[in-house]
Formats: sequence, C-alpha cells, structure tokens
Amino acid sequence: MNIEPETLNLKLDIRPMTTADLPQVMAIEQASYATPWEETAYRQTLNSEQAYLDVVTFRGEIVGYSGMWHFVDEVHLGTIVSHPTARGKGIGELLLVNVIARATDLNAEHVTLEVRPSNHPARALYEKYNFSEVGYRKKYYRDGEDALLMTSPPLRDSDFQSLVHINLESLLARLAKNFGA
Ligand SMILES: CC(C)(COP(=O)(O)OP(=O)(O)OC[C@H]1O[C@@H](n2cnc3c(N)ncnc32)[C@H](O)[C@@H]1OP(=O)(O)O)[C@@H](O)C(=O)NCCC(=O)NCCS
Repeated sequence: MNIEPETLNLKLDIRPMTTADLPQVMAIEQASYATPWEETAYRQTLNSEQAYLDVVTFRGEIVGYSGMWHFVDEVHLGTIVSHPTARGKGIGELLLVNVIARATDLNAEHVTLEVRPSNHPARALYEKYNFSEVGYRKKYYRDGEDALLMTSPPLRDSDFQSLVHINLESLLARLAKNFGA
C-alpha cells in the first residue's frame, strides 16, 4: 500500500516527528485532549526504538500526528490527532491508514488501541476500519474515565485489506479536494 504524499500529488507530507515539531505538537495536544501528554513524554518517546511518531504537514504546518508502539506481533496506537481547525477533512483517517500500513510492514498481526467510550468521532473512525471492541480498562484515564479496548481485524486478512483499499480511494479523493494542488 503506497500512501506517500508525492504519489498522491497532495500538498501534504507525512514524516517522522522531531523535537523541532514539539511546540506545534504541544499546542495541538493541549487543544485536543482532556488529559494531554507532557512535552517530556514526547521527548522520551522520540528516543524510543519501539515507538514511531509521525506528523502530517500541510504547507509546512503540522495538521496532525500519530504515535504507535511496536511490540512483537502487535502495534499499539497510542495517539492520533488532527488539528482542531483541520478536522473532518481526512487527516485522522490518513494517519490511521498510515499506521495500518506501517504495522503491516512490521509484520504485526493487529493494531490495538484504547479510546474513551465518550469519544464518538474516534470510535467512528476505528469502526470505519472494522476495529472491534474487545474489553475495558477501568478508570484508565487520569480523570477517571474507563477506556474501551479496540483491535483491528488481522492485518493480512483479505477482507480487511480490501476494505482499506476501498476506503483509501475515497479518502484520496477527499484529501485531493481539501489539500490538493
Ligand atoms: C478522532 C480524530 C483524530 C478524527 O480526525 P479527523 O481528521 O477529524 O477525521 P477524518 O476527517 O479523517 O474522518 C475520518 C472518519 O472519522 C470519523 N469521524 C471523524 N469526525 C467525526 C465526527 N465529528 N463525528 C462522527 N464521526 C467522525 C468518521 O468515520 C470519518 O469518516 P466519514 O467522514 O467517511 O464518516 C479527531 O477528531 C481528533 O483529533 N480528536 C481529538 C484527539 C482524539 O480524541 N484522538 C483519538 C484518541 S483515541
């Protein structure tokens, strides 16, 4: 699956996050989460060999980012955010497809994640890719809300791969409309 921006002819770039990105990342983080990560957590994660932090930029400005961890046969999606002013335009979905593509390349079997039950936009995004609810973690978040555990279908499942490709076609059309040349 090739979702490199040059092949998409989009004014978007997906690249690894660097420490120079942290001022923009922290501003988006604080505007997006009830319990945002501290900058030190991002700095530590940038040094971790198991973690992959990526940003999406549009005309040089960060419009979204994701963080995933690779553990043997599993990729755990720890964060996925689009800039509050860039929501509803396909950036979150692009980040999720990028994570799925990376996880597949790493030979992971599944992508797993935690989400707040109250986070309907995020749950709808994961459900669009057939992630299923597999459990709860009680009082997982610092403010006491439980977390819902979700997991992707097996990444190599042919039905799942077809779904990703079908969704990708309409995603690319949407991104071209919102972020094209
Ligand atoms: C969740 C989030 C990343 C979605 O990003 P986005 O860029 O707005 O999403 P997209 O425009 O790519 O939408 C993709 C899909 O997500 C779902 N979705 C996104 N926003 C939605 C909304 N407001 N209501 C319902 N579904 C929504 C839909 O399934 C949508 O597909 P569709 O348009 O074909 O219905 C974004 O809302 C966000 O950054 N939230 C704050 C951080 C967060 O909660 N992250 C998730 C942590 S688990």
